[in-house]
Amino acid sequence: MNYEDFYNQSIQNPEAFWAAQANEIDWFTKPQDILSTDETGYPLWYKDGSLNACYLALDKHINDGFGDQIAIIYDSPVTQTVKKYTYNEVKSEVARLAGGLLSLGLKKGHTAIIYMPMIPQAAFAMLACARIGVTHSVVFGGFAPHELAIRIDDCKPRLILTASSGIEIDRLIAYKPLVDEAIELAEHKPKKVVVLNRKLGARIPFKKYDVDYDALVYGSEEADCVPVETTHPLYVLYTSGTTGKPKGIVRDTGGYAVALKFSMQKIYGVQPGEVFWAASDVGWVVGHSFIVYGPLINRNTTIVFEGKPIKTPDASTFWRVIAEHKVSVMFTAPTAIRAIKKEDPNGEFIKQYDLSCLRTQFLAGERCDVATLEWYREHIPIPAIDHWWQTESGWPMIANMMGVEYLPIKPGSSGKAVSGYNIMILGENGQELGPNEEGYVVIKLPLPPGTLLDIWNDNQRFQAGYLQKFPGYYFSGDGGFKDENDYIFITGRVDDVINVAGHRLSTAEMEEIVASHHSVAECAVIGINDELKGQIPLALVVTKLGEAIEHFQLQHEIVKLVREQIGAVASLRDVVIVNRLPKTRSGKILRKLMRSIADGDNFQIPSTIDDEAIIDEIKEVLELAKIGSFK
Ligand code: COA
Ligand code: AMP
Repeated sequence: MNYEDFYNQSIQNPEAFWAAQANEIDWFTKPQDILSTDETGYPLWYKDGSLNACYLALDKHINDGFGDQIAIIYDSPVTQTVKKYTYNEVKSEVARLAGGLLSLGLKKGHTAIIYMPMIPQAAFAMLACARIGVTHSVVFGGFAPHELAIRIDDCKPRLILTASSGIEIDRLIAYKPLVDEAIELAEHKPKKVVVLNRKLGARIPFKKYDVDYDALVYGSEEADCVPVETTHPLYVLYTSGTTGKPKGIVRDTGGYAVALKFSMQKIYGVQPGEVFWAASDVGWVVGHSFIVYGPLINRNTTIVFEGKPIKTPDASTFWRVIAEHKVSVMFTAPTAIRAIKKEDPNGEFIKQYDLSCLRTQFLAGERCDVATLEWYREHIPIPAIDHWWQTESGWPMIANMMGVEYLPIKPGSSGKAVSGYNIMILGENGQELGPNEEGYVVIKLPLPPGTLLDIWNDNQRFQAGYLQKFPGYYFSGDGGFKDENDYIFITGRVDDVINVAGHRLSTAEMEEIVASHHSVAECAVIGINDELKGQIPLALVVTKLGEAIEHFQLQHEIVKLVREQIGAVASLRDVVIVNRLPKTRSGKILRKLMRSIADGDNFQIPSTIDDEAIIDEIKEVLELAKIGSFK
């Protein structure tokens, strides 16, 4: 079937379409009620079904006779390790870890936080939770204790699973002291902390709540899969929003399993048995959907990669992994390709590897600039597919559906709407815009299965953030336009969320931290263009009257504060002092205007500005500091 017909079916008769897709996975109780609504009127898929995500990811394949197939390849250039685990081996460890968690008092309905680096035990921990109906919340290892504490207080885990350390390019990061500090900071106190000792020399301060991971696994009996209802939260994944408090995106179990199986086959075009590699981190949605659950549910071999595209040890790493493990389809963020391109502009490393196994390269997580796409295509002549999605959706919303029909690529566009997503471009008043008119990217309800169910503990924020701006539509937070052939071009966020090296961060959260510095009277943090990371944050600060702090001292203190509170991953390095911030007459800070000035974009001076002279003042400061387009 061609894309057009397949897509139209999903929009014209979503119930029939998704009823058919539900047959692609095994259920303990097959759903009869395909599409209904909850008490607020929000669509629910497969409400009366029951299943288990860990069963689908592991046990099913063993029952089908594929227990000896490799499920996970752990490739870690930073520890110079390659280790392969069969489906039998993964199941055995996961089932015993699940047994261990039960022995520690965890049961269906509880939550657990996982704070681990990119090691297979992170995936084992997720699957062990899923096996017994415990809702997991994975926190990215690059987040500081303060961020971890916010998540502990919000999702109230009974237990945290962690490892002794992670490894960044040039340093060992001891995780256990960070977990202890987060528990001290949090009001909610988890009962146990399960610690995997990686024996890499990191400090592991002992606390009464500690449990040794290895001892727990080896001392426990295998636990069976617990059937859960379709809408049982498989996980809560926190993502940045427009306030200082991250949002806990709630993912269901049944709709998600169907959507992932569908994605692997129809979007990524991967058949069971093939090797699929998403070079991301389990702390992000890509890791949940396409390192752990998607490839395993589709019986692929997935790669857990502990390293970076460059410097571990060099820009050849990606090509070595693809050639060595015979990767068929790969996924990474454009920033990773930009980093490689910078180190190896002529693709010399690429020539040293046999990449004939690689069929398709997918790119997402941030806007894919045309130069990066073209560099890739020049050096590796396979389809390089930009595709668009979010933590909230859990799986791609705009893509080239490689398992359905490969459509011509239009550089700059992420492709056409994926089946199930009725994507529209609306104007400020909710009117649908015509071809090439830029507006808000929204999706007409119902969203397809597997997309967000709620915000953990905060349905009001869920309604206000996503559903109330345009009633009847999901508001994505992104701007964009469709051309006359229905290709969609995403132009960027319309809110305070920025994307730094494929990591989603909130400038509002950074602003709160910058504002807490004792010398700061007022500030604004904006995302400006960056050649490598896509975007980086810039803080513009007005100091308190009479404050005699040197610029470099203030910059140093603010950068340190943000690293301590959010983590190094925030990448805030540029702080400038200004006499005042541009505002409207009613006092609203004109962040977009500052962004345009820094990026060197054309802009119109808003008629509501209170004083135009400030534009030149800001330009001067940025010019002096050589920031953004003034570099
Ligand atoms: N634990 C601890 N610290 C971490 C971390 C982690 N898991 N991840 C990142 N950091 C730290 C880094 O060490 C760095 O610290 P520094 O400022 O002291 O050097 C800081 O956070 C910024 O990290 P990053 O943005 O990753 O920059 P980088 O210069 O180390 O690497 C890239 C740049 C482009 C190579 C890297 O960001 C990358 O590979 N990006 C792809 C991201 C991706 O796949 N995202 C998933 C979305 S699909
Ligand atoms: P995250 O929730 O971390 O996956 O970030 C989602 C956001 O990243 C989206 O709302 C977009 O702003 C941006 N994004 C992701 N993929 C793309 C893409 N292919 N093109 C443009 N922006 C993207």
